[in-house]
Amino acid sequence: MEPIKGFSKLSKEAKLQWLTTNNFEDSEEAQKVFRTYWHEDGDLQKKHDEFIENTMTNYFMPYGVAPNFEINGKLHTIPMAIEESSVVAAASKSASYWKERGGFKVEVISTEKIGHVHFMYEGDATPLFDNIHLLEEQLRVVTAELTANMESRGGGITSITLVDKRPQLAHYFQLEVCFETCDSMGANFINSNLEVMAGSLEQFAKDHVQLEANKLEVVMRILSNYTPHCIVKASVSCPIAQLESEGISATEFARKFKRAIDIANVEPYRATTHNKGIMNGIDAVVIATGNDFRAVEAACHTYASRSGKYKSLTHCTIDNDVFTFWIEIPLALGVVGGLTKLHPLVVKSLEMLGKPNARELMGIVAVSGLAQNFAALRALVTTGIQKGHMKMHLMNILTQLEATLEEKQEIAAFFKDKVPHHREVVNHFCAVRGVPIPTVKK
Ligand code: MEV
Repeated sequence: MEPIKGFSKLSKEAKLQWLTTNNFEDSEEAQKVFRTYWHEDGDLQKKHDEFIENTMTNYFMPYGVAPNFEINGKLHTIPMAIEESSVVAAASKSASYWKERGGFKVEVISTEKIGHVHFMYEGDATPLFDNIHLLEEQLRVVTAELTANMESRGGGITSITLVDKRPQLAHYFQLEVCFETCDSMGANFINSNLEVMAGSLEQFAKDHVQLEANKLEVVMRILSNYTPHCIVKASVSCPIAQLESEGISATEFARKFKRAIDIANVEPYRATTHNKGIMNGIDAVVIATGNDFRAVEAACHTYASRSGKYKSLTHCTIDNDVFTFWIEIPLALGVVGGLTKLHPLVVKSLEMLGKPNARELMGIVAVSGLAQNFAALRALVTTGIQKGHMKMHLMNILTQLEATLEEKQEIAAFFKDKVPHHREVVNHFCAVRGVPIPTVKK
């Protein structure tokens, strides 16, 4: 295949032609598959095409809902966009379980976001520190126009600090700027402010005789996706006696459940999977509400390692026969800006959640992570996860085998109380259909 120049400037048709001719054995069949996922409503398709560059088609992802989430006394149906078969079922199960035991409680602890102008200064930095108040004043003046709107909504720049990072890296300094971005995630707002501030910092160095402007170099100006001052806590709690679980006493369940968290706190191999399960719930809601799940993932994992060791994002205590289980995580989310008004399903997700503000959405997302972790640990310390997981996966296997509805129903009934391992499903499917069992390739 030859490299192509100016690909992004081609029409969608021309791009698809080039793509399928140069990258597939059967270009016609490939084109057909890509086109199958185009939306028949041209305006809607155009909207999706314009989200990114070189859009060829849409990538469908299941959008499910988990009802019965009682959060701070209010019932919610939570939208989840995710392809993993057992996640929505697990969320729904946890929601019902905790609805019977007082529901979820949430509390937003902080909402501040951070950005930096990363710069090098090879001169004597004392005048810079001595004049920090003048610099701050100047930075506030040059950003006044940008921040006016946010200030009218109760947000804006909350602090500007000059940080000496030379112990970590020669000549390295930061302007560390904290922001309150109200109902928006704030990435554009923060980055725009930082870019203006960087220019102003350079000008400040030129205007002050004690500083050597030629020794100052701005390297980057960018928000940090690590938001340890934008924290939400979600929890559940009940007397141990109320913790019924399959085939295990309530006390035994509470003890083993806590052990599972103790293990995640000392064993990063387990903590990674433990937190991955939490992110199953978090990402699904973050995606359904049009937020940036990569940013949320990055922040949560950094937070999980803030002690210097990667640990569990959830915690558990057993005190005076009361079981308490909670999550505390950084979540920088928005309900305005970004995709929130553009993507029709995002609009519906937010409406389904009662048009939450950003703080309320933080709570809902944290609950979804906690619920997911509860379902995973509950299964892991009792029956194991394969029973529930494979049951959901059974339908995927049968769809792959192109089973009819009747065949699906018959086979699902057969596996009702068995773990449906792939080989056994294939064998049973062949028996039901009356076809020979395919030989397994060695
Ligand atoms: C699977 O996607 C997630 C789990 O592995 C999480 C866990 O082990 O805690 C079930």
